Amino acid sequence: MVQNLIERMSLEEKIGQMTQVTMSLVSTDVVGPAEDHGIDRAKLERAILTYHVGSILNEGGDGYSLAHWHEVLSEIQDVAIKESRLKIPLLYGIDAIHGATYTNGATLFPQAISLASSWNLDLAEREGEITALEVRATGIPWNFYPVLDVGRQPLWPRFWETFGEDPYLVTEFGAKYIQGLQGNDYGAPDKMASCLKHYVGYSAPSSGFDRTPAYMSERTLREIYLPPFEAAIKAGSPTVMVNSSEIDGIPGHANYHLLTEVLKGELQFKGFVISDCKDVKRLYTRDRVAASPKEAVALAINAGVDMSMVPNDFSFCDLLLQCVKEGLVPMARIDDAVRRILQVKARMGLFEPNHAYPDPLMKPMLAKKEHTGANLAAAQESIILLKNDKNILPLARTSRVFVTGPTSAMLSVLNGGWTITWQGTAEALYPKDKLTVLEAIKAKIGDAQVTSLPGATFNAPVDVAAAVTAAKNADVTIVCLGEKAYCETRGNITDLTLDAAQLYLAAELIKTGKPVIVVLLEGRPRVIQPIVAGTSAIVLGFLPGMEGGRAIADVLFGDVNPSAKLPCSYPKTPNGLMTYDHKPLEENEENSYDPQFPFGFGLSYTTYSYSDLRVAHEVIGEGENQEVSVTVKNTGGLAGKEVVQLYLQDEYGSVSRPVRQLKGFRKIRLEPGESQEVSFVLTPNDMSFIGLKNTRIVEPGTFKVMIGQLERGFLLK
Ligand code: GLC
Repeated sequence: MVQNLIERMSLEEKIGQMTQVTMSLVSTDVVGPAEDHGIDRAKLERAILTYHVGSILNEGGDGYSLAHWHEVLSEIQDVAIKESRLKIPLLYGIDAIHGATYTNGATLFPQAISLASSWNLDLAEREGEITALEVRATGIPWNFYPVLDVGRQPLWPRFWETFGEDPYLVTEFGAKYIQGLQGNDYGAPDKMASCLKHYVGYSAPSSGFDRTPAYMSERTLREIYLPPFEAAIKAGSPTVMVNSSEIDGIPGHANYHLLTEVLKGELQFKGFVISDCKDVKRLYTRDRVAASPKEAVALAINAGVDMSMVPNDFSFCDLLLQCVKEGLVPMARIDDAVRRILQVKARMGLFEPNHAYPDPLMKPMLAKKEHTGANLAAAQESIILLKNDKNILPLARTSRVFVTGPTSAMLSVLNGGWTITWQGTAEALYPKDKLTVLEAIKAKIGDAQVTSLPGATFNAPVDVAAAVTAAKNADVTIVCLGEKAYCETRGNITDLTLDAAQLYLAAELIKTGKPVIVVLLEGRPRVIQPIVAGTSAIVLGFLPGMEGGRAIADVLFGDVNPSAKLPCSYPKTPNGLMTYDHKPLEENEENSYDPQFPFGFGLSYTTYSYSDLRVAHEVIGEGENQEVSVTVKNTGGLAGKEVVQLYLQDEYGSVSRPVRQLKGFRKIRLEPGESQEVSFVLTPNDMSFIGLKNTRIVEPGTFKVMIGQLERGFLLK
């Protein structure tokens, strides 16, 4: 069917299929609430009938109702399917990165960095399932997610969109999310197609600023940043979105080696590659690797980009037509791109009658009660207990509590970007039935026991003296610190240290001598070293989503025994950015891995002991697996969930090997006194690394497995 279609398509129609524009380009120019954003018929027909555009993305400004989505998407498909010459269905895409972002009332989950803090892969799969149900309720079949970037630069404002600093953790969470989102058929009415982003090496800008250069070797790229994408492509994701920045001076959108030789050649990716927003034209306007807009189009398409997210005009169509006519882009490249796109549309079932239209039967899927339950469970398992002096937590419900700080009384600080609006900062548009941290605490212990004051804004003290007085009159103070919502470059910072105003507020409260509990809501691990020693407890939420306020209150008052662990190192100082999997030469007399809190760390209200770590074979041969087992016991008085983490060290290699690397984890529930044996299988791939020739190899030698404080060695012959 696809080949037959391609043979009938004009060059203009082919180019149209390679073009994606934004919803606002076909909407009425309404400034007001999104609900008033209707389709402008003339604009829509110009896009689809004149320019043959095959894809549209996102929304006209902020959240739509289900009814509004059904109305606008049906009108779009009517023009594409009923009025166009070849009746090719339009493919609509959206950023549903923690639920149906732009749909009013949708279930909005913990952001990736928080979900990864749960170390519970079932939650990732469930979030993918529910996201597919709720976005399909709107009628959209394509999600620009998961982010598979590895978060190795905590300054980066998109750090919270990642599953953390470890390639294995990112790989596992990405694959499980895709499994939930796509199931075995991403064209099914209750499933969606994923989009792997941002391919590849985008998350390590050396300046920390979003969309600034990364400098890495092919070996580092293949060792750290490529594995999550390799696994997700094997898991069957049909689309990939390109790195919006550059590596070693080569913009992602001009990188033939990575887009064609590696992705489509070596990894045999059969789906299609979409550019990131405006990034084809940026090869000229920003990166200056193309001397004209036309040259930029030729460079990107010849590098391996199949669809351009233009998205605010039709320039790409005109320019690519010129490129083909002038021989700058061969017809074979056009046909390859169009074939890839149409094959994905076909596998989505869009060509089947009515399948491209919103399915009214899916409407009841939005915000189902069990989805809210799943969201709360995910949030509860993503709250990390970092400090708990004298077991001050959990608090008694009879405690008189003073709550203050800039993140205590807002919902946007629980959610971050891509929430109702792109930046996530439209607090007034947030649902009225969700609870801030302050509201959740009041709901749990009663208003009478709670006093509150802002204390500080994000960057300026408010009435600190009043806050100090209130703290003196309470049993305990809960000071909520962190970051306001932000997205992409608007979240750039030059200092990882938390704002001085917030540190000052906390320090003044600590001086009262009353217990101070810090709650942190932030997209990245902001340095809080000056106040750590003086606080009695620290609870880190990162961005726990719409149920995050409730989850934090559940942990503070013991209705939930915290089980989350850091998916990243938490720096002690602004330049103390060493990752847990650092190299041996980074540990010496002068310095070592010395974060405020290490990767994989998190406290519980109970305690666990590890014993009897065993490897099945003292010696294994090439290509053989190694079985590892350990016994874990709940030695405390409370039931809890523990994350058993398996690390491996390849003690010597022809390329320097990390002091340890995460190669397995399992989250288990143990009743008080209960023991459980946990076993893992290490495969040759787990023992492999990228060698001197930039290929993945396994070398014989001694290996060490580490779980908890235990370690065992074995020899690979
Ligand atoms: C943005 C982001 C990307 C998103 C795309 C569409 O610039 O980089 O993650 O999917 O545009 O909104």
